[in-house]
Amino acid sequence: ETGYFTYDSGFTATASCKSAITYIDGDAGVLMYRGYPIEQLAEQSSFLEVAYLLMNGELPTKAQFDRFEHQVTHHTMMHEAQKHFLQGFRHDAHPMAMLCGMIGSLAAFYHDSLDMDDPEQRELAAIRLLAKVPTIAAAAYRHSIGWPIRYPRNNLEYVTRFLHMLFEVPAEPLELKPVAAKAMDLLFILHADHEQNASTSTVRLVGSTGANPYACVAAGIAALWGPAHGGANEAVLKMLEEIGTPDQVGKAVEKAKDRNSGFRLMGFGHRVYKNFDPRAKIIREMCHKVLSELGIDDPLLEVAMRLEEAALKDEYFIQRKLYPNVDFYSGIIYKALGIPTEMFTVMFALARTAGWVSHWLEQQVDPEAKIGRPRQIYTGATSRDYVPMAQRG
Ligand code: SDX
Repeated sequence: ETGYFTYDSGFTATASCKSAITYIDGDAGVLMYRGYPIEQLAEQSSFLEVAYLLMNGELPTKAQFDRFEHQVTHHTMMHEAQKHFLQGFRHDAHPMAMLCGMIGSLAAFYHDSLDMDDPEQRELAAIRLLAKVPTIAAAAYRHSIGWPIRYPRNNLEYVTRFLHMLFEVPAEPLELKPVAAKAMDLLFILHADHEQNASTSTVRLVGSTGANPYACVAAGIAALWGPAHGGANEAVLKMLEEIGTPDQVGKAVEKAKDRNSGFRLMGFGHRVYKNFDPRAKIIREMCHKVLSELGIDDPLLEVAMRLEEAALKDEYFIQRKLYPNVDFYSGIIYKALGIPTEMFTVMFALARTAGWVSHWLEQQVDPEAKIGRPRQIYTGATSRDYVPMAQRG
């Protein structure tokens, strides 16, 4: 219910909203999208089908999915004028900065044609975002390496189309191993939604003011960028590279236990999961599969496995119920697929767009939805009189 409950720190808070989209049981390590266990969706579904499920509440019939896929496929192009925004960024701008700016700018192209009271137009805006984020994400990457933008090819399915926009060069056809699209699709399913995490709550807070969905998703992208949230996958790779070799793992674990060190094991711990993050288990298996099928012997995987092993049997982590989370292994897969580190959080944002637009759509039809207004515990000065400048100390 939307009501009051108290965190274990004694801090009273309110549930921010009611939602029927995703259910998490942090102690049991359960994650369900619209009632379907994440393990089954990971095994049997596709990212685009999961996006339909999150947005509409039910798995699509074939006819419904074909119509949805056609709609998404025919909204993948970005407005040609948006290329000027891209050219305006320095080549070494962080792709998340470019993504945030470019998605926010969609409002300048489509907002005036969006009647927010019309359910069909709201759905079209959600589909536009789902369709254009991969195109814009890939364009941002291409800009950062000085390559020409690749236009979306409508004869390809969603994830393969994205990989082509990322990696295809005019000079030669792109050879994609099937495991690459399969691994990317799985990662997108696992990152698609996660209840009221910081970025989704941001989307809902901005949406509660009546702001347009492009502005809402741009705000979600900004929130996701932080290293405590979606930026963790990029931070995990940097951490593993800093640790360097398996024999340095023990030192890293000890350093992470020292609160004064300011060092944390990135990819470990979770605000809700006080058991294994069910996504981390699935990603760990996919990580081994991808590396063996691509014939990659990445020493960072050995460091990651030794770090996980050491932390899981260390009293400090056991007591605080700190387990690997969704970000711990995903970066190793992205790296194996040739995705550069600075694009890892962009991958997360691309997948989470499905969840963000679903929460935005849900909020638009919630009769109890009000403008968000988080409360505070005031710790400032008590009332006092103004002192003219000349009399100040
Ligand atoms: C995501 O909300 C979501 O659902 C997010 C997400 C999603 O799908 O949207 O699941 C995605 O953001 C996953 C989390 C990615 N972030 C990281 O991996 C960054 C590293 N992890 C942490 O910073 C931390 O664990 C958080 C932010 C994820 C959770 O923090 P909490 O639950 O608020 O825990 P805390 O900061 O209160 O820490 C509790 C204790 C503290 O020690 P004590 O004060 O008891 O001595 O655990 C320690 C912390 O110092 N601790 C860690 C640690 N995380 C917590 N110590 C070492 N390494 C860590 N990673």
